[in-house]
Amino acid sequence: MSSRVVAENALPVTNTTPYYDLMELSSTTRRGTASSESLTLGQLLKHVGDVQKEASGDGSETPVHHTLDISDDGIVTEPRAVPFVLSFSNLTYSVKIPWKLSFSAIFPNRRHHVGAAAVAEEPTVGERMFARTKTLLNDISGEARDGEIMAVLGASGSGKSTLIDALANRIAKGRLKGTVALNGEALESRLLKVISAYVMQDDLLFPMLTVEETLTFAAEFRLPRSLSKSKKKARVQALIDQLGLRNAAKTVIGDEGHRGVSGGERRRVSIGIDIIHDPILLFLDEPTSGLDSTSAFMVVKVLQRIAQSGSIVIMSVHQPSYRILGLLDRMIFLSRGQTVYSGSPSQLPSFFAEFGHPIPDTDNKTEFALDLIRDLEGSPGGTKSLVEFNKSWQSMIKLQNQTLANGVSEQNGMSLKEAISASISRGKLVSGATNTNANPSSMVPTFANPFFIEIGTLSKRSFTNSRRTPELFGIRLGAVMVTGFILATMFWQLDNSPKGVQERLGFFAFAMSTTFYTTADALPVFLQERYIFMRETAYNAYRRSSYLVSHAITALPALVFLSLAFAAITFWAVGLDGGASGFAFYFLIILASFWAGNSFVTFLSGVVPHVMLGYTIVVAILAYFLLFSGFFINRDRIPGYWIWFHYLSLVKYPYEAVLQNEFDDPVKCFVKGVQIFDNTPLGSVPNAMKLKLLESMSNTLGTKITSSTCLTTGSDILQQNGVTDLSKWNCLYITVAWGFFFRFLFYLSLLVGSKNKRR
Ligand SMILES: Nc1ncnc2c1ncn2[C@@H]1O[C@H](COP(=O)(O)OP(=O)(O)O)[C@@H](O)[C@H]1O
Ligand SMILES: [Mg+2]
Repeated sequence: MSSRVVAENALPVTNTTPYYDLMELSSTTRRGTASSESLTLGQLLKHVGDVQKEASGDGSETPVHHTLDISDDGIVTEPRAVPFVLSFSNLTYSVKIPWKLSFSAIFPNRRHHVGAAAVAEEPTVGERMFARTKTLLNDISGEARDGEIMAVLGASGSGKSTLIDALANRIAKGRLKGTVALNGEALESRLLKVISAYVMQDDLLFPMLTVEETLTFAAEFRLPRSLSKSKKKARVQALIDQLGLRNAAKTVIGDEGHRGVSGGERRRVSIGIDIIHDPILLFLDEPTSGLDSTSAFMVVKVLQRIAQSGSIVIMSVHQPSYRILGLLDRMIFLSRGQTVYSGSPSQLPSFFAEFGHPIPDTDNKTEFALDLIRDLEGSPGGTKSLVEFNKSWQSMIKLQNQTLANGVSEQNGMSLKEAISASISRGKLVSGATNTNANPSSMVPTFANPFFIEIGTLSKRSFTNSRRTPELFGIRLGAVMVTGFILATMFWQLDNSPKGVQERLGFFAFAMSTTFYTTADALPVFLQERYIFMRETAYNAYRRSSYLVSHAITALPALVFLSLAFAAITFWAVGLDGGASGFAFYFLIILASFWAGNSFVTFLSGVVPHVMLGYTIVVAILAYFLLFSGFFINRDRIPGYWIWFHYLSLVKYPYEAVLQNEFDDPVKCFVKGVQIFDNTPLGSVPNAMKLKLLESMSNTLGTKITSSTCLTTGSDILQQNGVTDLSKWNCLYITVAWGFFFRFLFYLSLLVGSKNKRR
């Protein structure tokens, strides 16, 4: 039997600022949660709110308390009161490889391997007519506890990442066989998202934010609103100290083009943004790869501290150094998806000694083991003997433990609810919000913040990023101004003659399609952010819809500037009609086409996998839009089987709108008297002759046509160009609506394209 006491500063690790104490409960609340035996999960999570309210209630720091387990004889056994056990058994995961890639499919005599997954000496265990199955994980079992680091080791390609993905629920339902359970209860996906974090192998960070800002934004996303600003700040500062990032706090992350923090520091920032909400389960894929041994050691040291604060840390390591080995509590060695060793680092020598390959004293234990496994993989029998030996060794260890524990083996068999409850009272699980819905499953808080807060935070981050890279906007503005300048000088002060009308049409067609082309720069924006977005939304940092809205909000100011610049440069220089109101509409329609084009390109960036492919598609589609806009061929002359594309053409609407803006003055004249002969073979005859011709035409037609008679007004030109079906304001509205439509499609692409799971 064990009793629970509260001790001062009893953690063996000397944190400068133990951060989770920020969430410390008063003793009354702790008693409250301890006595409630049969709480539902929803009720438990309500306690999170109570904790948070208390935590944010008074500004004074509560003294540092830790709950400890003390056994009857007074010996401190473990520095943790909340035993979480993540157990996984018989995990098997296989993928189908297309027949083309399969060499073994050529040999039909291997067909007897089908179904022999457990004993196959190689991962290729089955084959069908057109697909071969490759087993990436083969019957893997194990256990990880809070306070400990479990490391997955193995050569490259042995299945480490796959195993971590399997444990982190990142493999699509139904594909993974076997069970993963926390304290004996199967993990619901929603709950897992709240209590866990996954640190990817690559550092996906915004290069222009400082370390402190990066962590602050993470805190704003993942910590609940009920937590005061000062508490969030304190959490960030504590985390900076805990991660050893104090010296780099004000440095930007940096990238290829900008000097920034070092690789080790970047790694720790990556870890920091995922542990900001103090997850119970922390998964990391090769957190030390690519780091020098000191940085790698510091990273694992940080992980050890996180584990000892009551988390389960599961990570994969490629090749741990001797010092890192000392920080690991459990290890699983994989070879081609099979377990070849599982146990503590200290048991490793005896394991291999009994297997008949004792580890020489001078060798690094893990290096020896990995080398041996590689040798076995290359040998004819494969690692089968080692896998079998491990199995018997495991059952032997189990037997020993059972006789040792003598019936009280399930001593710390806390249920998941109890464990989470106890964890909450210790200040864990701070990402939980206070959702007091009646339905228990919907009470699991999905997002820490409401919609509008998320939009605000996302927009703030986006603006900070653009402010740090003013050259990007400068280049866009420069491009638009150069185009405007060239157009302004090319089409300088067009007159109202028939030639001038032709040139105006050309100017409008070109200007309206140029606005679309200049929006292609929106393409890399999301492509760059996509993986950051996926990482953040995979664990519910914010809603996808918030991202959508903030993406549009942050794009708009730049578009307003660009359209204003373009409209101002060209409107008077070309000599367009309509005065102030004409300019206002001209500006609005350019803004609308920028908006529609930007949305269209943004949507493309959500579906294309690569920038270059994106540009190719944008350029091609915009060219078709221009072709079908009605400038080259009028609407009434477009073949019936292509007319649908005319209505899809984004360029049609702004083009028709500016034409109407220009030519809708019913009294303005564009072809007057002898101008009727311009652009005809008679254009070159002398003026007196033209007047004579006019006179004889008048006589024939029976109407008087003098040199001042207007023959073509603006509305005639609109008629001739087939611009009759929509008013200019409707064209504007439709252009704006296209923008919203493509934003909606972009949203769908976000929903579909960011599942972040293996199939
Ligand atoms: N979708 C897939 N299709 C086929 N093979 C895959 C797929 N995903 C991973 N693999 C293979 O599975 C093995 C294990 O991959 P992984 O877990 O990434 O290894 P590790 O992280 O240990 O380097 C590798 O041989 C890899 O090529
Ligand atoms: Mg890997």
